[in-house]
Amino acid sequence: METGRFGEFGGQYITETLMNELIRLEKEYEFYKNDEEFNKELTTLFNEYAGRPSLLYYAEKMTKDLGGAKVYLKREDLNHTGSHKINNVLGQALLAKKMGKTRVIAETGAGQHGVATATAAALLGMECDVYMGKEDTERQALNVYRMELLGARVHPVTSGTMTLKDAVNETMREWATRVSDTHYVLGSVMGPHPFPMIVRDFQSVIGKEAKAQILEKEGKLPKAVIACVGGGSNAMGIFHEFIPDEDVALIGCEAAGRGVDTPQNAATIANGSKGIFHGMKSYFCQDDMGQIAPVYSISAGLDYPGIGPEHAYLHDTGRATYVPVTDDEAVEAFEYIARTEGIICAIESAHAISHAIKIAPTMSPEDIIIVNISGRGDKDVAAIARYRGIDIHE
Ligand SMILES: Cc1ncc(COP(=O)(O)O)c(C=O)c1O
Repeated sequence: METGRFGEFGGQYITETLMNELIRLEKEYEFYKNDEEFNKELTTLFNEYAGRPSLLYYAEKMTKDLGGAKVYLKREDLNHTGSHKINNVLGQALLAKKMGKTRVIAETGAGQHGVATATAAALLGMECDVYMGKEDTERQALNVYRMELLGARVHPVTSGTMTLKDAVNETMREWATRVSDTHYVLGSVMGPHPFPMIVRDFQSVIGKEAKAQILEKEGKLPKAVIACVGGGSNAMGIFHEFIPDEDVALIGCEAAGRGVDTPQNAATIANGSKGIFHGMKSYFCQDDMGQIAPVYSISAGLDYPGIGPEHAYLHDTGRATYVPVTDDEAVEAFEYIARTEGIICAIESAHAISHAIKIAPTMSPEDIIIVNISGRGDKDVAAIARYRGIDIHE
């Protein structure tokens, strides 16, 4: 495949002022990804700091209750900082440091990526600025304070819908004004090349571990791997290692919000069309004129109007399937997994759980499903209580 492209998707549709920096980033990454010292340092950060490898947990009660396929959960929620975002952030922050950068900047939606970036900056002694839609700073106030505790400055973004897409715009703008000492730690498998490749590579540790773990526990591969999809980094992370295994179904769960037939959803594959935005060619929720549509999900991390270009390619080639999951279904799954397995997962991850609940009973007990639990749900508890009309006196 042509470098920087996944079929027709991907590319570098970006302001000229950033092109030299992207070329340099690709060169440095190509060097460091094969550098023994870099890989040793990153593995130490993964294992000694982030808590890898993450568990592959057999959800026995859920399996018995659903009465079909055996369900395993890949526990990225147990990582330091509470989600898969730390894998990519440690990789990029270490790379930035090697490149001589002293400052990192990031966009964030749910706040998990911002918290992870602030954490890595604290650890590696770098300055950190995080851009977050004002709407999200209110939905995820606890994460704003967490970032500040970690020494980062959080900038509420008031343009557009004041959510994730606007935070990406603002961070890109900021990066273009100050590339000399600053690296943009992009939080998902999106944006211009080489970001979708770099983020995928750093997240692919999830699938590599999951494959080795399931082979050790069960001696065979799963029938399906399920993950939620915002930009798509936890999904690409767990899918990538399984792409050559054609009998393994790869299923991404998008946020259908209040329904794919309402204007309030973020289901890019179900409702989107091909376009160019945030430096990449992919699928986007947009109007006939190419204006990006306002999107909505109960989950700030899935509230994004696009999808990473490699997912667009996996969709077009039929290698992966993408299904919409509504707010109601995700909240039910959030409550179900808490009650059944004693795990309060992120509302993003609950979208993937919801699909497992749907398909497990239709499969044989010989079959295995792996669901990626991309994060923990502490950040969502207050919002879910509100959704259920419960007053918990925050
Ligand atoms: C816990 C969690 N899961 C999933 C996502 C969605 O991102 P991605 O699709 O890149 O994995 C986010 C984003 O903030 C998140 O915090």
